[in-house]
Amino acid sequence: MLADNLKVLLGSTFAFYVKIHGFHFNIEGDNFPQYHEFLGDFYTEVYGSIDPIGEYIRTLDSYAPGSLTRYAELTIIQDQLKIPRAELMFAELFEDNHKMIELLNHCFVSATQENKQGIANFIAERLDAHEKHQWQLRSILKKSRA
Ligand SMILES: [Fe+2]
Repeated sequence: MLADNLKVLLGSTFAFYVKIHGFHFNIEGDNFPQYHEFLGDFYTEVYGSIDPIGEYIRTLDSYAPGSLTRYAELTIIQDQLKIPRAELMFAELFEDNHKMIELLNHCFVSATQENKQGIANFIAERLDAHEKHQWQLRSILKKSRA
């Protein structure tokens, strides 16, 4: 069901947001100013999608999860309790962002099957945003071609 898929999306998006914000706090290294700012823009963009996901769940006449316990149960994005070094942070976010894209593709199919074109449109926009994040993370991780 679409509402159930959107609940997984809500929990996963929240967990992803929390991880990126934690990395924003704690990243270190030569490129600190750029990395700190990049992660700030990244978590802000992801955070902005949380409210619409919750409200779309309500339009489907289902209740939107609103507790950390429920988000932890629902999320496909694993929590990070440690503070990895910068390169490992980006590698982890790249993997997580890939999972988000797979989840969004699943939600898009579900929205289309239930004939919810507005939600499908929103999910398509989220896919676009996460594909941009994927490009940027891949570019940060790429080794010099020299
Ligand atoms: Fe900040």
